[in-house]
Amino acid sequence: MTHTIADLLQPLAQAREVVVFTGAGLSADSGIPTFRDGATGLWANIDPEEVVSIEGFERDPDKVWAWHESMRSLVADVCPNAGHDEIAELESLLPNARVTVVTQNIDGLHQAAGSTRVLEIHGSALRVRCHDHCGFVEAWEAGQTPHRRCPSCGAPARPDVVWFGEALDEEVFSLAAQATLDADVFFTVGTSAIIQPAASLAMAAKEYGALLIEVNPHETPFSEHADYSARIGASEFFPSLREALENFLEKTDGRDGNDHGR
Ligand code: APR
Repeated sequence: MTHTIADLLQPLAQAREVVVFTGAGLSADSGIPTFRDGATGLWANIDPEEVVSIEGFERDPDKVWAWHESMRSLVADVCPNAGHDEIAELESLLPNARVTVVTQNIDGLHQAAGSTRVLEIHGSALRVRCHDHCGFVEAWEAGQTPHRRCPSCGAPARPDVVWFGEALDEEVFSLAAQATLDADVFFTVGTSAIIQPAASLAMAAKEYGALLIEVNPHETPFSEHADYSARIGASEFFPSLREALENFLEKTDGRDGNDHGR
């Protein structure tokens, strides 16, 4: 078990592939409720089967649209927090690494913070698409009333969010899986790590030799497997990691993580 942030710095400085896997906890400090955190969790107040499932959509599409419209307007009113910002900064800070964000979040905050390689494995509340996958997809701008019918084929339109019981987008998930298998360092941030297949990525990374770093104020099923567990919030952890990294890279002339006796 790795014990301090200092133990993470050389692996990060030398890393070629870094994956940051994120969940709702990362956006909590932006004011978006998580799904399962006690009484404030989104699923404490509504059965997800009613609003994020095909059965719910076929039974009562207006109810499903209403839930997604509430999420869309909530997201329109919030900003990325320091956790999103510092994760985006990793792209320029880590000289040797390609940084891939694999997010379960549908709020678009990683892109808003400047991350350039974001795989949205559960889709996005900022887009609508054809329910029959004819190829129609378009941005859902804040305040805009989205199409309810696909303008291309006439099938129902729906938010571009992966619902319970639906398969993830194959291309997006295979990119996420490949980055995971190639990862030298894998962060799992703000996720309860129970929804599959997303939650399988962290264990796969570990099995393929990645350094596994968990950032979560609470224990999760992965905590025992993590090489380093930061029991603090993401918007607190990532700024301190960046500061430690900047000092380390300056001292070791950055590129290879070895001390040049400065
Ligand atoms: N920083 C980091 N982690 C935090 C913070 C924070 N500031 N605040 C809360 N957390 C942690 C909680 O301890 C919890 O483990 O974030 C996690 C949030 O867990 P969930 O609410 O289950 O959210 P998530 O893991 O993203 O859910 C996965 O489930 O409902 C589906 O599709 C939905 O993508 C979602 C998936």
